[in-house]
Amino acid sequence: MKLRKQMVAGNWKMNGSVELVNQIANAISAVELDKVDVVVFPPYPLLNNALQNELVVGAQSVSEHEAGAYTGEIDAQLLAELGCKYTLVGHSERRSIYGESDEVVASKFQRAQCQGLIPVLCVGESEQEREQNLTESVVSRQIDAVINKLGVVSLVKSVIAYEPVWAIGTGKTATPEQAQQVHKFIRDKIASLDDAVSQSLILLYGGSVNEKNSELLFAQPDIDGGLVGGASLNPDSFVNICKSAQ
Ligand code: G3P
Repeated sequence: MKLRKQMVAGNWKMNGSVELVNQIANAISAVELDKVDVVVFPPYPLLNNALQNELVVGAQSVSEHEAGAYTGEIDAQLLAELGCKYTLVGHSERRSIYGESDEVVASKFQRAQCQGLIPVLCVGESEQEREQNLTESVVSRQIDAVINKLGVVSLVKSVIAYEPVWAIGTGKTATPEQAQQVHKFIRDKIASLDDAVSQSLILLYGGSVNEKNSELLFAQPDIDGGLVGGASLNPDSFVNICKSAQ
């Protein structure tokens, strides 16, 4: 029996359609998933349709700014008003493609929380950083950016997703032992500051999760579910992954 309620989230990235929203919603509603929190992160134009299908939704990123002259940006307040419950912050693709720094990610985290959204802080090392044994220092640095700005208690209303960059979209999933080792490091790091926050914190694993590997990953003591990319675009696969978290 796991200490924390498990969570499975689907990050659709820049993929999907109204039809897919309907298919995913139908697939999820057709099974009993009361022991796992299921969340979908569709592209912005599909958020309303996902909400109308009674899915629990999140945004894939938010602006760190308050409303104003920021063409193309997405305001956390409007997302909350729409009915969004979560938002990703600091996904590796936002960091690598769009140059989001740890400081900007921490500001997005803060903006999301002040508008009542639950930030999912994405952290993880590159292949080169792992080969150089820098995994723990990279993940620490990314988490410290939030703790230093907002304090460890700010993690209470958040989720952390460990997504090794070398496992994202590559089919090279971290082994359950590799993932558990980093998850335990994260939980111990936070416990050294506040044990209660650490024990309640949901830690998701992301990086080539699929219906074949999810059960062994989610069985690990410090893995509380998954942040799923490609496999979340297939209704049957996504439901099977959700079932494996129960
Ligand atoms: O945010 C989840 C995503 O980065 C993982 O993608 O396709 O490796 O499951 P994928």
